[in-house]
Formats: sequence, C-alpha cells, structure tokens
Amino acid sequence: MTAVGIDAVEIRTGKLELDLAETFAPAKGESPEKYTKGLGLHASSFPDTYEDIVTMGANAAHRLMERKGLEPDDIGRIDVATESAFDNSKPVSTYIAGCLEQVYDGDFHHANKGERKFACVAGTQSIDDAYNWIRAGRHRGRKAIVVATDTALYARGDPGEATQGAGAVALLISEDPDLVELSPEQGFGSADETDFLKPNQQFPSVDGKRSVQVYLARMREAVEDFESVWGEIEPGDFTLVPFHTPFPGMVRKAALLGFRHMTRNTHIEEELAEEIGRQPRHEAFDDEEAFRDAISEYTDKLKETDTYAAWYDDVIEPTLTISRQVGNWYTGSVHVARISGLKQALEAGEDLTGERLLVGSYGSGAQAEIHAETVQPGWEEEIAELNVDEQLDSRYSISFEEYEHIHDVHNHDTDTQADAEEFTTPDEEFVFDGWGRMGERKYRYVG
Ligand code: HMG
Repeated sequence: MTAVGIDAVEIRTGKLELDLAETFAPAKGESPEKYTKGLGLHASSFPDTYEDIVTMGANAAHRLMERKGLEPDDIGRIDVATESAFDNSKPVSTYIAGCLEQVYDGDFHHANKGERKFACVAGTQSIDDAYNWIRAGRHRGRKAIVVATDTALYARGDPGEATQGAGAVALLISEDPDLVELSPEQGFGSADETDFLKPNQQFPSVDGKRSVQVYLARMREAVEDFESVWGEIEPGDFTLVPFHTPFPGMVRKAALLGFRHMTRNTHIEEELAEEIGRQPRHEAFDDEEAFRDAISEYTDKLKETDTYAAWYDDVIEPTLTISRQVGNWYTGSVHVARISGLKQALEAGEDLTGERLLVGSYGSGAQAEIHAETVQPGWEEEIAELNVDEQLDSRYSISFEEYEHIHDVHNHDTDTQADAEEFTTPDEEFVFDGWGRMGERKYRYVG
C-alpha cells in the first residue's frame, strides 16, 4: 500500500508576544510560577491588528507552496480547521485560496474547499479527510492543503485567559510523504460534553476544571479504542508522543495517565513493583472510592520514579517547547507539538527515520483521536527548512495596556478594528484590508 501522510508543514505565529511571567502575572496580581511552572507557559502569541485567521493561514500556506515548488494546479483540496471563523456560510478556505491567487498565475477553481468544525480536533479531522480522499483514489495525483488556524482568545478575567494564543499550521497531505506516514489504525473517544463551547460568540464559555477531566477521560477511551485495532502499546514503542497542548501542564497530566496505562502488565510495572508496588486492579476492590484512592496514590508515586521521569524527558518534553512560547492555538496545537518534537530531535542530532510517533488529538465538546505515524527519510530536510525560531524571536513584545487593546481589536468588533494602530510593519505577507460592501473581509499582499 502506498504511504499517505504529511509531506511538509509550516507554522505562522501571530507577530505579537505577551510575556506571561513578566507582564501578565504581575498585572493580574498572580505569581509568575503559576504560569511558568503550573501551566508550563512563558508567553502567548497574538495577531497584530492586520493579522487574523486568514492572513496567518494564507501566509503559512504560501510559504509551504513556495518551499515545495507547488502551483495551484498541484492542489486538489484546501480544508481549513478553525474555531475562530467569522462567517457561518462562506468558509475560511475560500478566503485563503483568494489570497494565494493574488500571488500565483493559476487558480484553485478545481480544488474542493471546506471548513471543519470540532473544536481543537478539527485539524486532525481535516487531515483524515485528505487522507481518505487520497486513499479513495479521487485526488488525480494532486495534494491537499490543510490549514489549522485560530485566534484562541478568552473573555478578560476568564481563567482561560492565561492560556491564550494565535497562529496557524499549514500541512501538505500527499502520497509518498517526506515527513510522516499516517497509520490507517485510529482510536476515538467521543461523547456529548459541555466543557467548552462557543454558542455563536467570539469568546468561549468554559468550565475549565471540568474540561481537564473530560480531556483525560476521552483520551483514555481513544487509547483503548486504538489498542483494539493496533494491539497493546508500550512506552518504548513510540519515540515521541505529541498531544493536543492547550498548555503544557495539561499534557503533564495526560502523559502520566498514559504511562500508567501503557505499563500495566509489562516488565516495566514488574521492575517498578519493588519501589512503588504494582498497579491496583479494579477487581481487587469492592468499593469504587477505595479503588480510586489506591490508583491515585500509585500514580503519585509513579510520577516520582526515575523510570517515568526519563520517559517523560525523552518522549513528551520535546513536544512542548514551542507551546511554552505561544500558548494554545486550538486546531493547530497538536500539530505544533509534532513540529516541536521533531525539531528538538533534529537539533539533538537524532535519526528518527522509521521511528514511530503516537499522536493524541483532542477537541472539547468532546472528542479525542489517537493514531500512529512513521517518520519518513525526508523528515530532517523538512524540519530544517522551518523558520520557527526567527518568527518567535522577532515578535513584538506587548505591554499589558497594549494587550488589552489588541484583545479588543480581535473580538470581531468592526469599529475597534477599523481604527487600530499596528505594532509591526507588514513585509512580504497577506494582510487584512478592511471590509467589502457585503460585509466580507478583504485581504491584500504586501510585497
Ligand atoms: P486556574 O484556576 O487559573 O489555575 O485554571 P489553577 O489554580 O488550577 O493553577 C493551574 C496550575 O498551576 C495548577 O497545577 C496549580 O497547582 C499550579 P495542577 O494542580 O493542575 O497541576 N500553580 C502553581 N504552580 C507553581 N507555583 C505557583 C502556582 N500557582 C498555581 N505559584 C485552567 C486552570 C486550566 C482551568 C484554566 O487555565 C482554563 O480554564 N483554561 C481553559 C480551558 C483549558 O485549557 N482546558 C484544557 C482541557 S480542554 C482542551 O484542551 C480543549 C481546548 O483547547 C478547546 C478546544 O478543544 O477547542 C481548551
């Protein structure tokens, strides 16, 4: 079977940066450690006044096409995953295609375009759609572009404000991919939940503490479903495990439960038994509460073991580096985690060709998805081409007052946005250019 997967990726961060420890925490009267240690975040990315989900997505897709030497005719699908759309009918992918057509001679008139919605898991679902389209043989040798783009803002004063971010990831999905091949095996954990939603409003309604529990419950279901088709998984099977990362502290919780699950009935559990005992088994308890207490006590001990710490440092920590600097990008977040892990491996001189990743996506509302990926021989070249560090280093650092202003600009209030002064100067990129006569947003390329 021909390999199908991710051929290349690009990321585009919002051009503004809010330092959480130095700027945000003091203004909120909170300890910087809540951010840097508790949530695991150092900074959030925000879009400048002329940036939005379309410009970030189009700029990422443009760099992707340029780098891969692609013309519009090479692309048979453009799917956008977002939770920050500004139109209930016209998809963001049409705006992005319109931007790209400003800089290419050809057009995307024969490409199928759409928009996917399921909170943060929609980016992964769009990759699935492209994968299935290629596997079904309907692609005519063409490739698909998936863009996951979001401005992840919370209402001021909401606890989620600490985890904000903005950016886009563009992914090229094709046969014989250069980066990773996707496994046909998948696992899902899905249920009707009301942990985080945006009922026709720009800022989400969030039950933050509950959302953490729902994430863990759905992820566990997805792992079990994945194992039912893949077979049981063990920690050593995967070199990196990129998770959806609303903030690194969330992944810290998910990774610990995942490790406990994967080590059950393995030699690792046996080796750890002398130090911390064996995992409590449900059937040994009459009382549910007693079982929960026992499992929680075991998990606390497991977290302190060198075995767990070493696995976490190798397999999880590298996936969190970019997230710490940018915050939550909703649909793009798990794809940032993959890039981060591969980039760290490249910088450490590791050869990952043929190695496996286990990818855990999640969207509130709620659904988790698990699949495996195999790293392809072209991965080093692909990752080396990224300019992530340059983008992060050149962000303009905003004060708390500037943050409040930019937060107002991006709450979809046209008056505020129309008068907004920009903090940076656009250069060779698509920018927002006001509204047209039917209320559509307009864009132009600044050369
Ligand atoms: P909070 O109440 O502001 O924070 O809300 P907290 O008091 O729980 O503190 C956070 C952590 O920092 C805790 O660690 C504290 O102990 C620690 P934990 O106990 O959880 O391990 N802490 C400190 N550590 C060291 N020194 C200190 C210190 N102070 C505190 N001085 C909450 C946290 C996550 C609820 C909030 O940020 C929130 O509502 N976030 C938005 C929702 C969210 O991100 N949920 C995650 C799961 S749902 C999801 O991922 C989907 C999502 O991406 C949306 C989608 O799918 O579309 C959100």
